[in-house]
This record gives sequence, C-alpha cells and structure tokens, in this order.
Amino acid sequence: NELGFDAAAAEKGGFAHFMLKEIHEQPDSLRNAIRGRLDFNLGSSVLSGMGTSPRDLAEIQRVVLVGCGTSLHAGLVGEYAFEDMADIHSEVQQAAEFRYRNPIIGSRDLVVAISQSGETADTLAAVREANQKGAFVMGLCNVVGSTIARETGRGVYLHAGPEISVASTKAFTCQVAVMLMMALKLGRGRRFSRDEGMKFAKAIEAIPELVQKVIEQSDRIEAIAARYAENEHAFFIGRGPMYPVALEGALKLKEISYIHAEGYHAAELKHGPIALLQEGTPVIALANDIPGKDKTLGNVEECRARGARILGIITEGDHEAAEAMDDVIEIPACHPLVSTIPAAVALQLLAYHIANVRGCEIDQPRNLAKSVTVE
Ligand code: G6P
Repeated sequence: NELGFDAAAAEKGGFAHFMLKEIHEQPDSLRNAIRGRLDFNLGSSVLSGMGTSPRDLAEIQRVVLVGCGTSLHAGLVGEYAFEDMADIHSEVQQAAEFRYRNPIIGSRDLVVAISQSGETADTLAAVREANQKGAFVMGLCNVVGSTIARETGRGVYLHAGPEISVASTKAFTCQVAVMLMMALKLGRGRRFSRDEGMKFAKAIEAIPELVQKVIEQSDRIEAIAARYAENEHAFFIGRGPMYPVALEGALKLKEISYIHAEGYHAAELKHGPIALLQEGTPVIALANDIPGKDKTLGNVEECRARGARILGIITEGDHEAAEAMDDVIEIPACHPLVSTIPAAVALQLLAYHIANVRGCEIDQPRNLAKSVTVE
C-alpha cells in the first residue's frame, strides 16, 4: 500500500515463510506448553485438564494413542514414553483404522486423541468410537474449543499458538512435550519415585533451551541442506524413540520439498530398502547418544559401504559418532526421550532449507491441506 506496509510480510514477523517463523517460535511455544505444569515438589506434573484423580490414573491399564500424519508420529514417541516412564502398556493406532477394526477397548483404557486442529475427521471418528465403547477419552489439541477438544471434554491443550504452515512443526514438539508430562504424571502413580520424577521434570523443563541451541545452528544447517538438495530420494533411520522422529523427518521432507523420502527403523533397512542405496544416496541417521546408538552406528556403516552419503544427527561432542558421518548436526546431550524434540527441530530446519533451495511453495505444498475434514 501507500505506506509501503506489506501486511503479509508483517504477519510472518520478518521470516520468509510461516514455517520458518513457526520453527523459530518453538522455544516460546514449548515454554507455554510447559509453564505451570511441572510440580517440583511432588516430582510430577499438574495437568488439571486431564480431570483425573490419582485413583482414576491407577485404574488405567492401557494407553491408546490415535492421530493422523504428524500427530500420529508424535503418538509413536508418546508410546515409548508411557511404557518407559509410566510402566503402562501403550500402543498407537491410526485414527483412520480405529473405528473400522472394531477395537478391543474398555473402561480401563485411556484413549488419547492427538490433533493440532482438533478437526481431523478420522481422529474425530476415533474419539466417537472410543466414547461409544466406554473408554476414558482425552484430547491433545492445539485449537481451543475445537470439535475434538469439545467431544472429549477433557485433555490437555498444547498452547503452541496458531500454526499456519501446512507442514506441522511447533504442534509436533509441543505434543511430544505434553505427552512426556502426561507420562510423568502416570509414572508417579506407578513405579516412579519422587526423585526420579524430579529428575525427569528437570529434563522436561530444559526442552525450550535445548531447542534454542538447535535453532541457533540454522545457518549451518542451511549450508548442509545445499549439499542434499539435488537428490530425489532420501532415507531417514533411527531406533527406539528416534524411530518415529525418522518417520517425521521423512514426512517433513516429502511434504515441502517433494523429495521421495522414507523413514525406517535403522535395523529394517537391511531387510529390503538397502537395495535402493547407490553412490551418494542420502541417509539421515538419528545417532545421538541413546541406548542402541552403537547398533545404529553399525547400520550407518552398512549404508556407507554401499556408497550412501550420511548426515548424522548426533550428540554434541560425540567424536565417535561424528567420524562415522559425512556431515553432522549436533544436538545437546539430554534425556533420550527429551532428545526426540531437538532432533525433530534439526530435521524441520533441514527440510525447510532443502525445500527453499529447491524453490518450493513451502507454506502451501501442492495437494495438501492444513486440516483434513473428510475421511
Ligand atoms: C493434515 C496436515 C498434517 C497434519 C494432519 C493431522 O494432513 O497436513 O500436517 O499432521 O492433517 O492434523 P491434526 O490437526 O489432526 O493434527
């Protein structure tokens, strides 16, 4: 307009795309998701929206996580957290399958519907089915007052702030952070001691700072991205809680750069996909310092022997891991479950910069919608 004011640019707060803005917002979003929800006295978390007494929580014998797309991947991280921290049987079901497979669900099952928008048709259908079967149903939504938030009647809001970019970033990291807090709460009602709870609460409190350290490397990641932007195929590998991060990294890359990307469990690569590796095929290995890292490094070696170019997401200062890679992005040392968050942010930045080099329509990728309200 006459004043030279560009409303669209102002909305993006000086960033070239909403996606980049939302990636950078994550330390604040995560702070908002965590604020007031950790109890350092009890070594637990306060999630009043769950609307549960310690007795209710003790009754729960299984956690079933449902969602679609990126929210489904967050659920897969949550599955590890609930089993590991809370000692409670946990599983993920694709929301789209849930109501058609006639799931075995009852009153001692906690069904958590994960949805940024709270409007995804398949996830909503899963909520209705779970309600029908008398389960304890909760929503994990970002949009306040959304349909899933209303129909579940209880749950935890992400407080991530509005997410505009079709490719989800800050909702994912906040979903994981909230599930870690839920697992802490459930864990304290089970085998977790106050001391252990306290330690885990501290690990969760550090998340925004860990993410900030990854974001500060954006320029370095941009330089690395330029070396991978010409490829038409890429593989992401990880194990343990980093396996779902590999799935999410691959999804991010294909969504916005249109590169054919696949996420695999590091051990599954040799059961087929390794046949596709050629000289220079990128393999992005989540090889930070968590149990099983040595095995992942072994898998990296197998890929390298077939000529793959390896980009490792490794723990800061891990020389052994660095030597196994062609390129590295370092994330700070932290609790294995917590490390899924900074690692995911590193892969968001990688996907963003690769798509940007390729001149892609980052905020509005072809064929994709922010919210899918049809089955
Ligand atoms: C769409 C979006 C994805 C999102 C998925 C689930 O496919 O493009 O980014 O992960 O829906 O959305 P929800 O709002 O339920 O998390």
